[in-house]
Amino acid sequence: MVSLTIEGRPVTVPEGTSILEAAKVAGILIPHYCYHPGLPVAGVCRMCLVEVEKAPKLAPSCATSVAEGQVVRVHTERALEARKGVLEFLLINHPLDCPICDQSGECELQDYTYQEGRADSRYRDPKRFNPVEDFGGDVLYVPNRCILCTRCVRFMDDVAHDTVLNVSERGDRALIGKFEGKDMTHPWSGNVVDLCPVGALLSKDFLNKARAWELDRVASVCPSCTQGCNITIETRDLQVARLKPRPNEDVNKFFMCDHGRLNYRWMNRTDRAEQPMVRTNGALRSIDWDVAVHAAASLLRDARVYVVASPMLSNEALYLLSRLMRRGDGSGAFRVATGDEAPLAGVEDLALRRDRAANVNGAELFGFKRAENPLEGMRDGDVLIIADDDLGRIASPELARASHVVVIGTTLPEAARDAAVLLPITNFAEEEGTFTNLRGRVQRFTQAKPAPGLARPSWLVLGDLLGALGAQDGFYLPSDVFASIAASHAAFSGLSYEALGMRGLPVLESQTSGAAR
Ligand code: SF4
Ligand code: SF4
Ligand code: FES
Repeated sequence: MVSLTIEGRPVTVPEGTSILEAAKVAGILIPHYCYHPGLPVAGVCRMCLVEVEKAPKLAPSCATSVAEGQVVRVHTERALEARKGVLEFLLINHPLDCPICDQSGECELQDYTYQEGRADSRYRDPKRFNPVEDFGGDVLYVPNRCILCTRCVRFMDDVAHDTVLNVSERGDRALIGKFEGKDMTHPWSGNVVDLCPVGALLSKDFLNKARAWELDRVASVCPSCTQGCNITIETRDLQVARLKPRPNEDVNKFFMCDHGRLNYRWMNRTDRAEQPMVRTNGALRSIDWDVAVHAAASLLRDARVYVVASPMLSNEALYLLSRLMRRGDGSGAFRVATGDEAPLAGVEDLALRRDRAANVNGAELFGFKRAENPLEGMRDGDVLIIADDDLGRIASPELARASHVVVIGTTLPEAARDAAVLLPITNFAEEEGTFTNLRGRVQRFTQAKPAPGLARPSWLVLGDLLGALGAQDGFYLPSDVFASIAASHAAFSGLSYEALGMRGLPVLESQTSGAAR
């Protein structure tokens, strides 16, 4: 370990740590552009210059390792003057685009200029101009805003291992170019938009959708495959507007794939089941929650139960479903959509996985069997619970072998239109819970938007249903359900939401290591 002083604060960090990272430990943010902890160090922007005692010149803090007894000053007149000069150069050709720029409000050029830059410009000549370029995939390039930090080039070269971008031209004409015949269609290329510290790389999907300060943000987990990348869900006017990666060293570092990033529109679906319904006189009619839950309970009470569960449901919901299913020696199954695996070559064990649902591992853990046709295990006369499977490619006559059908879902599938009871639940973005990823890591997600109509969280509906059957005393929070899992499953023993935190913990032995699904 190495001990040094930064802005008068003593700090001890491992040998080889950069001054910039050591300063973060001391609670000091040294301005920087080209440096990013997920990329190799380039040292090209000179924005991170600091004064190191006894050194003749200012030092780039991203590329200078700490030394024993070093005394570093970030806010001296000399260092500030140097960084002010860097900002002045960067702004020479930068347009005054902030009012129309998607990055506005979360732009490091805005922030550092406000913090340390000149109040005016001394540049009187016309600014350089280059047209906007479509880089392919979800990426637009606005060269006039580019500060040539090369983060995007390094991500594609060193992390994605797909050489697409380069620095074309030289001097004041330099800009980011694409190699002949290449474009940004790599499955992880959307990360360059997050990495770009200014508004030079933009997401076409998010273009002009919202200003950064209009968005509400919650911590969550991507539901689109079994990897379980940590994400932030950003909503505007109670609609999901975009998903962004949230750093987690153990799962996704700083990144998420384009499939996961863009697969959010279903969270805003408007054709939702919004009211509990019970079939009376041949038709499904809206009714109070209590009545609907008791109607479902009376169907389930003395029957063998068969459950078709979605692997997008939380551990909490799947656990409660498994309790419903096991009351009368029942069983259950799930199916999962699949696609091509797409690894991010530069990061170990990070890939868009073949199974395109978050909680396949959880579904298996709680006793659901994976099947192409999830109805094949159902016996004639079972009471069938459809738990948020959309029944795509399943026709209604196949459900007729069940004595009754209870739908607990976000929508009423066409094939289940003859259901006896419909209990509407919230979708993943509207409730709180946990998923178990393919390596057995249990991670929490939180609520990003309100429930539609009278829909209730899946864990609450299933807890009430168990309560109506006399099987439990009532769960008031999803953490109560998790406590019940911890009390009944050895692998979860001693765990709680608090212990999991927002980065999760490895709970189960990896069930699929090697051959990842
Ligand atoms: S496009 Fe953005 S990330 Fe790429 S070099 Fe320019 S400023 Fe940096
Ligand atoms: S790899 Fe999977 S979990 Fe990660 S962002 Fe992509 S779809 Fe989501
Ligand atoms: S951040 Fe250090 S030189 Fe760019």
